[in-house]
Amino acid sequence: MEIINTDIAIVGAGGAGLRAAIAVAQADPSLNVALISKVYPMRSHTCAAEGGAAGVAGANDSMEYHFNDTVSGADWLADQDAVEFFIEEAPKELTLIEHWGCPWSRTKDGKVAVRPFGGMKMERTWYAADKSGFHILHTLFQTSLQFPSIRRYDEFFSTDLIVQDGVCQGVTAMEIRTGEMKLFKAKSVIICTGGAGRIYPFTTNGAIKTGDGMAMAYKAGIPLKDMEFVQYHPTGLPGTGILLTEGCRGEGGYMINKDGYRYLQDYGLGPAKPEPVKKAMELGPRDRLSQAFWHEMQKGRVVETRYGEAVLLDMRHLGEKLINERLPFVRDLAKSYMGVDVVDEPCPVRPVVHYMMGGIHTDINTATSIKGVYAVGECACVTINGANRLGSNSLTELLVFGKKAGHEAIGYIQGGTAPRDEADAEKQGEAAEARVKGILNRTDGKESVSVIRRELNDIMEYGCGIYRDANLLTEACNKIAELRDRFKDVQIKDKSAVFNTALTQALELEAMIEVSQSVAQSGLARTESRGAHQRLDYPARDDAKFLCHSMAHYNPNAEPRIDYLDVVITKSQPQERLYGAAGEAMAKKAEQEKQEKQPVAAAE
Ligand code: FUM
Repeated sequence: MEIINTDIAIVGAGGAGLRAAIAVAQADPSLNVALISKVYPMRSHTCAAEGGAAGVAGANDSMEYHFNDTVSGADWLADQDAVEFFIEEAPKELTLIEHWGCPWSRTKDGKVAVRPFGGMKMERTWYAADKSGFHILHTLFQTSLQFPSIRRYDEFFSTDLIVQDGVCQGVTAMEIRTGEMKLFKAKSVIICTGGAGRIYPFTTNGAIKTGDGMAMAYKAGIPLKDMEFVQYHPTGLPGTGILLTEGCRGEGGYMINKDGYRYLQDYGLGPAKPEPVKKAMELGPRDRLSQAFWHEMQKGRVVETRYGEAVLLDMRHLGEKLINERLPFVRDLAKSYMGVDVVDEPCPVRPVVHYMMGGIHTDINTATSIKGVYAVGECACVTINGANRLGSNSLTELLVFGKKAGHEAIGYIQGGTAPRDEADAEKQGEAAEARVKGILNRTDGKESVSVIRRELNDIMEYGCGIYRDANLLTEACNKIAELRDRFKDVQIKDKSAVFNTALTQALELEAMIEVSQSVAQSGLARTESRGAHQRLDYPARDDAKFLCHSMAHYNPNAEPRIDYLDVVITKSQPQERLYGAAGEAMAKKAEQEKQEKQPVAAAE
């Protein structure tokens, strides 16, 4: 097997991976970086992000507001020390990438424009029309090209971490073009492989988001944290699941049901008047909006489309000029995939799986429990998103923590690393190769990848959807255990080495099964409702028992062991989550109390 020696291997070349690579290259050009990616970097899923990236900008906003919105949006399951770090760094990163070329949209007087986003009580989402992810990824990619220390390995599928006595020594990857396995001997590995939305049948996520990096870390012994929290975005296109950005609502779009009624006012997010309502209704958090759709469905107040039930996103009142200027991609998508011109008619939408709040457990510094292994972005849980991420926090997250991971990896290497047992590393590489070849060469298997994958998708939507209960989750757990067993008997027909997509799909499915099992088992164990995890049989939040992170520990022969880790609370004690008029009243009261306390504190 070919051996490639490097200092740092970064797995995944989307926003997080590129930002980490740039951070290393800028801070210490003497360190070699191997940037390993399943796809060409510009095909990474960051590209699909539309609405923008959050960071305090302008005099009306403050770090405190961003902190409060993020923590309450997370239903108090975010680690507050990590959130504090995040919000402080956010504007610096967004300004920096502008200097690298990111074309943020502007106000008439030339300032960076910010738009309102769900669950954010202030306007703080920086955007580049409705193609923000594309422009961020492009900016990072072109910036990365100037550093000779970054060597790219595009279209390499990473399979296994190489670990000796709890210390990282590299990673194996299959070159998809040749089918050859490579052993990357590295002192540090940064995992930036994105989420796993494809474990569900209906998702905004690109086909590549199959949880490979999460599963690789999990199988190496790093727990997956808070996996039961799966975000449904309220406005996906029926049929395809393509995203219509929250920016549509940020710009003033309405959600209406079959009677033309702005139904969100019935779910604690109102009132609809006086206009303009910027702080809730359509701009409530995603978990609440997706749950409201489920209730509208139960009440029979949704519309029927040829792709199933939906509600309507109405933007007619915004006018063609604004739509063309700020939401051109949305207009295009709705026309191409639904035959609807949003200038003239409302567009059918429905909740769609969009984001995993959980992921590879890291500390605030992106470090995992294996020395030298770091994780960033959607594959990781650093833990700023808790039980429900606010839209536009994730693009900023991958910048802030991508940089952090790069610097942490440098510090780790500079501190001196444990010597590698070269023979053992090569033996581990060969074992990884044997596992992959085992799948490729099996001739007596009776199971097919596509059949298992479809069954997996179906049970995830059925058992681990917007609302769950013990029966549904137990069914899901049992079915996933069955599929995990059946995967051992999977056979692929294509035995060729070159661009064998059947083989990569089998490897992806293996990862998807592991990730799905961690979602279902963590969900079954959490007998409360919080954020995106809503249990019909346990409808209340239970802070006494569950103000803590679920940690799923891999078990090769059985379901994962689940234990818990305390949430870090620095300054915001859990309260009721209130939006709309009630939320505003609460914020006013808190502000008043603060003002009243100030003179006393000064006198003391
Ligand atoms: O709706 C959106 O544009 C999505 C943004 C996000 O998930 O952060």
